[in-house]
Amino acid sequence: MNNIYVKTKEKKYPIYFANSFNGIEKAVEENDLSGRKLCIITDSNVSGIYAQNVKDTLEKYFESVFVYTFDAGEKSKNLNTISDFYSFFLENHIDRKTVVAGLGGGVCGDMAGFAAATYLRGIKFIQIPTTLLAQVDSSVGGKVGVDFKNSKNIIGAFYQPDFVYINTETLNTLPEREFNAGMAEVIKYGPIYSHNFTEYIADNKKAIADREYSALKHVIKKCCKIKAEVVSKDEKEGGLREILNFGHTIGHAIETKMNFTLLHGECVALGMKAVFNICLKRGTVSQKEYDELLSLLEYFNLPLNISGITADEIYSQMFLDKKVKNNQLSFVLLESYGRPFSTTNVDKEEIYSAINAVLR
Ligand SMILES: NC(=O)c1ccc[n+]([C@@H]2O[C@H](COP(=O)([O-])OP(=O)(O)OC[C@H]3O[C@@H](n4cnc5c(N)ncnc54)[C@H](O)[C@@H]3O)[C@@H](O)[C@H]2O)c1
Ligand SMILES: [Zn+2]
Repeated sequence: MNNIYVKTKEKKYPIYFANSFNGIEKAVEENDLSGRKLCIITDSNVSGIYAQNVKDTLEKYFESVFVYTFDAGEKSKNLNTISDFYSFFLENHIDRKTVVAGLGGGVCGDMAGFAAATYLRGIKFIQIPTTLLAQVDSSVGGKVGVDFKNSKNIIGAFYQPDFVYINTETLNTLPEREFNAGMAEVIKYGPIYSHNFTEYIADNKKAIADREYSALKHVIKKCCKIKAEVVSKDEKEGGLREILNFGHTIGHAIETKMNFTLLHGECVALGMKAVFNICLKRGTVSQKEYDELLSLLEYFNLPLNISGITADEIYSQMFLDKKVKNNQLSFVLLESYGRPFSTTNVDKEEIYSAINAVLR
């Protein structure tokens, strides 16, 4: 299946790529997880489509398999839901050797991982991501957690899974808007890594949009490879890992100010356009590269402009982000295409002009 490995100080784990759940038994065996109890955590949309299949496939490899389903959506991503997981764990005598599997999107993976990290001070955990965003981003790298009182992901841990199993076939049932939002994160990996990747996406955009296996596998694998490389060098965001936040400084502020009516990826698309604007003005990316980015975002129906908020609102919101240190805004910019760097050295005028570039 030729996997990718994520290496951190404490752990090395594989990411498997497949277009069915058939290889998951092999993953369980290879990682020495068979014979235990398995607790699959999933959401109310994914449960009916995939939980039974995963359960049936794995039943003979585990002593017993339990499934817990929570209400789908970011609104469930809180400590109350985690508390429900703990109750379920207690009722079913989940022990130190049990494996928790997060079967779903980023909300599910982040919460299943957080519960696994904290129950009995940490039990085994595997990620089975079913959204494009989760397959290229959230399931890799070990950030797990929940939202608390309107602050996103403010309670959490770094907790790496034992393996990640990516079945791209699950993307066939993903609503188009969710798929496209995931594409924003996919497109993000081009500017921060290499123009070749952007070219691949541009040349294969139709196959990707049609969710053809070989094109999808190529892009998802490449994204995981880039993320694995970055996380292996900087697990806890001491520096390098920040480059993954390309487009996120302005994106997050828009996301919050719009009261989460836009999807995360849609806001990242807007945020990327805004920082590309800064880079274009600084002369570190060309007009051609800027136009190319915009046309890719447009192809995947991602927003390039937004109305209903002001530049002042976005600007002040940015200072409230949990990543702000010493009241200084930090941006990931490009030295040139494929060469990102993180800086606090961006003028207020540059920021306003970037924001204005996405306001209608
Ligand atoms: N841990 C990290 O490093 C990291 C990185 C980025 C984002 N995140 C988190 O990820 C979350 C967003 O993830 P998401 O976009 O996957 O959202 P999500 O988990 O809410 O999934 C989006 C929607 O798609 C549905 N769904 C999932 N898989 C499906 C499938 N195969 N077929 C049909 N429907 C399906 C879900 O039920 C949900 O309604 C946020 O909470 C964000 O904070 C975490
Ligand atoms: Zn993101």
